[in-house]
Amino acid sequence: MKLVLSLTLSFLIFAFITTLSLAFSNDEQVLDTNGNPIVPGGEYYIFPATQDPYKGGLRLAKTGDSKCPVTILQNESITGLPVKFTIQGISNDIIMTGTELKIEFTKKPNCVKSSQWLMFFDYDASSFNVIIGVDEYIPEIIIIDGTFYIQKYGNAYKLGFCNDDMGEQNCLDIMRWNNSKDGGSRLRLILKAEQEVQDPYPVVFVDAPSFESGILMNVSL
Ligand SMILES: *[C@@H]1O[C@H](CO)[C@@H](O)[C@H](O)[C@H]1NC(C)=O
Ligand SMILES: *[C@@H]1O[C@H](CO)[C@@H](O)[C@H](O)[C@H]1NC(C)=O
Repeated sequence: MKLVLSLTLSFLIFAFITTLSLAFSNDEQVLDTNGNPIVPGGEYYIFPATQDPYKGGLRLAKTGDSKCPVTILQNESITGLPVKFTIQGISNDIIMTGTELKIEFTKKPNCVKSSQWLMFFDYDASSFNVIIGVDEYIPEIIIIDGTFYIQKYGNAYKLGFCNDDMGEQNCLDIMRWNNSKDGGSRLRLILKAEQEVQDPYPVVFVDAPSFESGILMNVSL
């Protein structure tokens, strides 16, 4: 009896420690470049983590046979569009690394119903790219079910995507992919087979209102 009890107790302690270490595993709150936590509903530019992290934003463009600008492109010479994050499922509104997120642009072209980010398989490019909106403008589209997330990457962050289609989560990082004809780099999944040779795209999150007021201040000076 004593043995059973102590086994139960040690199991409980073990379970507690495991839960604790999961809860505290490397997850941490995601911060913007001002050092403030990013919050659901806030507006942020996603810029490359460079010395001057105030350009190199994301825009929408027509690629392939698309009649609507739904492909997300990163371009070094633009500010681009800010995004908003929404937490999927139960949450206390804190965006941690690893939190399952929906991402959408704060503006959308008229030809799509939504500016929510989607992962789709592009037959022409044989790759999984990030696009927005709905499928009717791209032939033979395959949208992959899943959610985006942010992870720490060096001093900055990287974006990733988890596909939970098969009952178990399969998470992959996102890289930039310059095919030199789109007018910028696509955001593309790094497939398992490419992990040795491709690096994730290092990003920072810049608070859009303070970025924009910074520009206004410069203009008025
Ligand atoms: C993309 O590729 C083209 C052609 O190879 C090159 O001229 C351009 O500088 C590249 N852009 C980036 C952002 O790497
Ligand atoms: C980025 O955008 C600028 C301005 O639209 C364009 O001239 C340039 O070619 C683009 N860069 C790439 C790598 O496509």
